[in-house]
Amino acid sequence: MNATTGVSNEPLAGKVALVVGASRGIGAAIGAAMARAGATVVLAARDRRALAQRVAEIEELGGQALALQVDVLAEDSVQGLLEEVARRHGRLDAAVNNFAGGGRPPAPLADWEAADFDSAVATDLRGVFLCLKFQLRLMAKNPHGGAIVNMSSTAGEQGVGGLAGYVASKFGVGGLTRVAALDYAAAGIRVNAIAPGPILTDRLAAAGPRAREMAAAAVPLGRVGRVEDVAAAAVWLCSAQSGFVTGTVLAVDGGRLAGVPAFAVNPGRRD
Ligand SMILES: NC(=O)c1ccc[n+]([C@@H]2O[C@H](COP(=O)([O-])OP(=O)(O)OC[C@H]3O[C@@H](n4cnc5c(N)ncnc54)[C@H](O)[C@@H]3O)[C@@H](O)[C@H]2O)c1
Repeated sequence: MNATTGVSNEPLAGKVALVVGASRGIGAAIGAAMARAGATVVLAARDRRALAQRVAEIEELGGQALALQVDVLAEDSVQGLLEEVARRHGRLDAAVNNFAGGGRPPAPLADWEAADFDSAVATDLRGVFLCLKFQLRLMAKNPHGGAIVNMSSTAGEQGVGGLAGYVASKFGVGGLTRVAALDYAAAGIRVNAIAPGPILTDRLAAAGPRAREMAAAAVPLGRVGRVEDVAAAAVWLCSAQSGFVTGTVLAVDGGRLAGVPAFAVNPGRRD
């Protein structure tokens, strides 16, 4: 506890937290941040070897973590994951649904095959539904409720050309978040989403400095986000500090969704 602010340094102490899509990028940072915040963390994804590496990193920092394999495309796999969490830990206090995948490279909508659209929706939307379903069933057994965070995107709040499957799914994630928040408020379970703007993960780093500059130029704060920026928001949304926040989509985007800078709509104006 910080004596000046009264804010806990370990806001998730004693909690059991699950991060789905935790093997790399934003999800790996969320897992590490949850462990630093005092949670016992379950890291889930498809890639067993990468997960083992993430667990070792958390243990090196003195945290507690466990890796479990899951494929969110398969209902029985998601159900099995939550059964295993219940078996090992007896309960679930916090969950973050962070995965994304499927679809195809960007293309105008009419060039999308139905199968590409289905594959984006299967991971990015149906996968979130399945995770919510089994997480909520386990969490609802808690006398003190819990908190769930779904990873959306600025592309879940505004259209992005070429990304039909991803955008449709992320808009759906905002909808599922609100429905789940309403359905489980009485059970003390809060459900929120985060909409990150461009974040510096390996993918953006690999795209080179020019791509990074272009991404930063579209952000009012003038930089791309760090994985830690998103992880800090996820920890806050899972902690008691956000105890009156549910059914919302929190933009972590450097102001991108705030609107259009003045010079862009009125370039000639001086005052
Ligand atoms: N990186 C960004 O700039 C950015 C911006 C906005 C939103 N987001 C969102 O943040 C989240 C994480 O993004 P990232 O860039 O770190 O992603 P990433 O592709 O690096 O990692 C995604 C994770 O999901 C897992 N995953 C994918 N398919 C899965 C499946 N079928 N079953 C289980 N796990 C599966 C992967 O193993 C990995 O752990 C995503 O929801 C993404 O849409 C990212």
